[in-house]
Amino acid sequence: MTESVQFHDRLLSLGLARVSEAAALASADLIGRGDEKAADQAAVGAMRAQLDMLDIGGVVVIGEGERDEAPMLFIGEEVGTGQGPQVDIALDPLEGTTLTAKDMPNALTVIAMGPRGSMLHAPDVYMDKLAVGPGYPEGVVSLDMAPADRVISLAEAKGCAPKDITVCILERPRHQDMIADVRSTGAAIRLITDGDVAGIMHCAEAQVTGIDMYMGAGGAPEGVLAAAALKCMGGQMWGRLTFRNEDEIARARRAGIDDLDRVYRRDDMVRSDMIFAATGVTDGSLLQGIKREPGWLTAETILMRSKTGSVRRMTYRTPDKSL
Ligand code: FBP
Repeated sequence: MTESVQFHDRLLSLGLARVSEAAALASADLIGRGDEKAADQAAVGAMRAQLDMLDIGGVVVIGEGERDEAPMLFIGEEVGTGQGPQVDIALDPLEGTTLTAKDMPNALTVIAMGPRGSMLHAPDVYMDKLAVGPGYPEGVVSLDMAPADRVISLAEAKGCAPKDITVCILERPRHQDMIADVRSTGAAIRLITDGDVAGIMHCAEAQVTGIDMYMGAGGAPEGVLAAAALKCMGGQMWGRLTFRNEDEIARARRAGIDDLDRVYRRDDMVRSDMIFAATGVTDGSLLQGIKREPGWLTAETILMRSKTGSVRRMTYRTPDKSL
């Protein structure tokens, strides 16, 4: 491999932070305005424009949807100048469109990059997800365990009582039985209305966020983004695709998935070293949201590289052009 086509993650990472920042700043005017679509479009446009300035031959592997569903940043779209390394990109220009529209916590812009062929091409179906932070024995919990047994096993490994475990779960009718089973152990549950990428990232900094474990079904594309984040932050994650109809199965087959029941571990979803950037849109446990002071906008970004385990937090202040 020649110098010019290697995956220069150290150099690329700062560029990736700018991409994430640009998307978050573009959605700033739409925070709390009740318009999910406008907020998403603003973030998508800004992310796309910034990505095209990077010296990469990038292909969107996890994006806004299939080609006929998304005008920009669709799956398979080529981004970047085409001059640098060949990379795969997973992105969600606005993870938590409803959180943004309602000005609720933990909306993020998210992007991950790895060498070509390094990411699971997850179809737009649901994925059953389970995640814990770093420091636990391999396989301390599993998707095949009942929710209550996961709590008990994690509590044993942590050396605490089940009531001292906090589990994060998306508040959805489909999770009613799971929630009841977890509650039967006495564990606490942090219910979130949206945003399971942030929910899973929270496990990696349990001492800051108070969350020990994430479980439940959410978008499969978001699963790959969360796996990329955990690869950088540390922690274990498992995912299994779930299908509601034949059309969803066909989506998986088109994405090249033959074994529909497979359990993907974190490193099956992201098979190589990753760079990951996320910027807060609304305030959250891990990142501050966009702050507005007279004449200025400020964004906070977390930028991570799995190769070194480095985590950078950056604050960026820029003139508020909407004035
Ligand atoms: P959007 O930002 O696209 O609205 O997704 C938010 C989200 O909450 C994801 O974090 C999660 O994976 C998915 O939606 C859950 O899907 P559903 O709302 O159908 O339960």
